[in-house]
Amino acid sequence: MNRPVRIGIVGAGFIARIHAEAYHRLPGPGVELRAVCASRGERAQAFAATHRIERVAGSVEELLGDPEIDVIDLCVPNHLHAPFGVAAARAGKHLIVEKPLTGAFEHVGNPRALLAEALVNADALLDSCDAAGVRLMYAENWVYAPSIQKARRLFAAARAPILRIEGEESHSGSHAEYARRWATAGGGSLLGKGCHPLGAAFYLKRAEGQARLGRPIRPVEVIGATARLTSSEAYRASSRAFLRGGWIDVEDWGTMVVMFDDGTVAQITAADTVLGGIKNYLVAYGANAVVQANINPNTAVVAYAPTPDVFGDEYIAEKIETKAGWTFPAPDEDFMTGYPAEIEDFVRSARDGSPPLSDGHLARDVIATIYGAYVSAAEGTRIDLRPFLHEE
Ligand SMILES: NC(=O)c1ccc[n+]([C@@H]2O[C@H](COP(=O)([O-])OP(=O)(O)OC[C@H]3O[C@@H](n4cnc5c(N)ncnc54)[C@H](O)[C@@H]3O)[C@@H](O)[C@H]2O)c1
Repeated sequence: MNRPVRIGIVGAGFIARIHAEAYHRLPGPGVELRAVCASRGERAQAFAATHRIERVAGSVEELLGDPEIDVIDLCVPNHLHAPFGVAAARAGKHLIVEKPLTGAFEHVGNPRALLAEALVNADALLDSCDAAGVRLMYAENWVYAPSIQKARRLFAAARAPILRIEGEESHSGSHAEYARRWATAGGGSLLGKGCHPLGAAFYLKRAEGQARLGRPIRPVEVIGATARLTSSEAYRASSRAFLRGGWIDVEDWGTMVVMFDDGTVAQITAADTVLGGIKNYLVAYGANAVVQANINPNTAVVAYAPTPDVFGDEYIAEKIETKAGWTFPAPDEDFMTGYPAEIEDFVRSARDGSPPLSDGHLARDVIATIYGAYVSAAEGTRIDLRPFLHEE
């Protein structure tokens, strides 16, 4: 393709803004933001004006019918990923899908049925992209975070197994309304946040397996636990509360222990109940090395202010509650979180047809494992994932 890759963005909210800014960071005329659509037209208009997008489409169908769009970038709530993604693939568009790839939204309260439903949705996306010969690009930005990429290279140099991975994404509560309800989110913290460190852990073990064994190392078993901490008696009795509440039927804390097929493990935690700004980290403990990836916070900049007003409107970090005291202001949070590198890889993939680093297979393993963890949490058992995974 020796013309710009033309993008249609669906959604004009939090992550759509991050994607739009990442497209504009790409050097040269390699990409064109052709159109956007969102559920509220005026929001889409404002978004198009801010991000220099040529036109606003009235609906997803209109966007998919535009022959001048090569890639559909889905930045919409989780329950829309599968239906919109399948339609985009059928329309012959390459597909970027935000995390989680999809989920289960109907069989709420029945974890075994949710696991089956989530895999049907994941397979619908993978199969429709395969059938249409288009790329499925899974927007797991942790795969592209510079610290995770550095961890991969350090372990490649160390030539030794990663025995244990510990990872967490937590903060004080999602901003988005759809995230409060299972029918639109497909789960709580474990799905919405846990997918990030889990995706990075799977990426690192896949890369290690390819280098050492000539095959990806994959998960085989999972144990999970979840809780609704802001619904607990203890929390309700607290006199001052700074966490977001209002979770309707989803967990606000979850953890999972994953066993891999080489006998190694990952411990993943996710919560919407953590104060102090977003907490994104992964530590890999190897046979001859330890690597800690501090995505956010990190100590690139450390600052102090005696009162919250000192730094005015200057940005500090995602979801920090106060600018007072010692803080870790992020000089370029998007870069450290992997978004520009992710978008660059997806545009390259759409242009030259080669696979992205973060693809549908990785995404499907993440879905199977998290919904396996929900089954484990409900039944109090260790879940064998092998019957639910695809051969690769
Ligand atoms: N990678 C990350 O770090 C990250 C961060 C936040 C969110 N996300 C993911 O991005 C997705 C969107 O989350 P968000 O926080 O941006 O949500 P948001 O609520 O801020 O934005 C959602 C957007 O989807 C649009 N939308 C909803 N229904 C629509 C429809 N039927 N047709 C067209 N547009 C529709 C809304 O108009 C809105 O603009 C979710 O899947 C979420 O998991 C990823």
